[in-house]
Amino acid sequence: MDERSTLHACLGRYSAEHALLAANAAVILALAKAAIVLSDVIAAGPLMEVSARDSGVNADGDKQTKIDVFADALFCAAMRNVPVAAVLSEESDLPVELDSGAPLCVAIDPLDGSANLDNNISVGTIFSIRPRGRDVLSTFFEPGTGQCAAGFFIYGPQTLLVLAIDKSVAIYALDRQEKEFVLIRQAFSIPPDTTEYAINASNRRHWNGAVRAYVDDCVAGVTGERGRDFNMRWIGSLVAEAYRILMRGGIFLYPADMRPGYREGRLRLLYEAHPIALIMEWAGGAASSGRARILELSARTPHQRVPLIMGSSRLVRDVDAMHEGVEPLFEAGDAPLFARRGLFR
Ligand code: F6P
Repeated sequence: MDERSTLHACLGRYSAEHALLAANAAVILALAKAAIVLSDVIAAGPLMEVSARDSGVNADGDKQTKIDVFADALFCAAMRNVPVAAVLSEESDLPVELDSGAPLCVAIDPLDGSANLDNNISVGTIFSIRPRGRDVLSTFFEPGTGQCAAGFFIYGPQTLLVLAIDKSVAIYALDRQEKEFVLIRQAFSIPPDTTEYAINASNRRHWNGAVRAYVDDCVAGVTGERGRDFNMRWIGSLVAEAYRILMRGGIFLYPADMRPGYREGRLRLLYEAHPIALIMEWAGGAASSGRARILELSARTPHQRVPLIMGSSRLVRDVDAMHEGVEPLFEAGDAPLFARRGLFR
């Protein structure tokens, strides 16, 4: 293994450059160490005590499994010895304060899509890092443009880290023998325009008119407005969809819809949409709610949901254009109510 291409070595160069980047590097290395442990637990699956069986519900009422609880404890413990002022996890109601004088705050989904483990489908850990502001809570309620780094680990046939730092996206693969992430792609960019879309089409009757019209055009293929045939994919695991889009281009949509509980979308702004949007943009793609750029949105609550449309920039722009002039159906996620401002300011 080339010593210079390990995650450790790649991040090492930041230590000399800039104090905030050096702090980021320390946090990312701690997350990577925890991800290596989680990767082994996931790979052992039913052979290990920590299984994907139900254990309760989390702060937001989602089903929680034993492995969700394990992953949460693992990543939160990893944040204790690095310069982190507070960590907001999907699994807890509010941010947990750690070292109040530290320069960074971390939002994390320790194990996204854990229900997929029963089916041996890729799952992941998603994280967002931002500089601590005046106080912890208001830091998390800043727009996503305030993030200084973000990324996700994907536990699949390979364990990978997709990392957005210093305005660039790199991909690392876990070398299981050396227990070290190794650089496989740097200055990575998304194919700009691919005819592949992903959406949970079973919700069609609940969508707004703009999303329905866009998907109808994709289904119509060469005979429709876009004049091209599209291919459809739906894995039901955000990191797997995001990784496929990074590799092949295309578009992913999880819009707001009329179902109770989905009027602001399904995915969470702080530890799903914001970090994925940073990765998409720094890789040359785009992420939008249909009506606003995801990175310009602020959360009003720690577990704020948001519609997420992400992928190749031309396709995301097409969906945005279809929302223009379409009346919002609801007063929440389908409307630009919380763009740029949170109710706390
Ligand atoms: O947020 C959890 C999650 O599993 C995401 O990883 C995924 O994109 C989405 O939910 C799947 O939603 P649905 O159950 O509608 O397919």
